[in-house]
Amino acid sequence: CEAVGNIVKNCMEHTPDGGTITVSGNCNPLYSEIIITDSGSGIAEDDLPHIFERFYKGRASGEKGGFGIGLALARMIVTEQNGTIKAENVPKGGAMFTIRIYESTV
Ligand SMILES: Nc1ncnc2c1ncn2[C@@H]1O[C@H](COP(=O)(O)OP(=O)(O)OP(=O)(O)O)[C@@H](O)[C@H]1O
Ligand SMILES: [Mg+2]
Repeated sequence: CEAVGNIVKNCMEHTPDGGTITVSGNCNPLYSEIIITDSGSGIAEDDLPHIFERFYKGRASGEKGGFGIGLALARMIVTEQNGTIKAENVPKGGAMFTIRIYESTV
């Protein structure tokens, strides 16, 4: 919940009024997946490799005064649960975050 909350908060901060944020889920025998997308600015290519680093704030973070901690925390929470988290941009604009929690290996 904390990880998803941090991602949705970011999406709200980067999506203009009237935009759309979607949260969807899938599961299969290997993993459970949560996909969060927004219709905002997308993530700058320069920022993309760094956004999960602690205290990293993208140039677009503006004057909103975040600490650059939300995604670092999200990644820590997810990886501690045998999970992965990734960020990309969607072709029509906007950001997309995918969290996967893998079933324990047998
Ligand atoms: N949905 C998004 N669209 C565009 N850029 C994003 C999005 N989510 C995150 N980012 C970029 O990733 C950076 C890191 O995000 P993170 O949540 O770690 O920090 P923050 O939001 O700046 O501060 P905090 O979460 O501590 O309030 C942001 O500063 C922003 O540049
Ligand atoms: Mg944040």
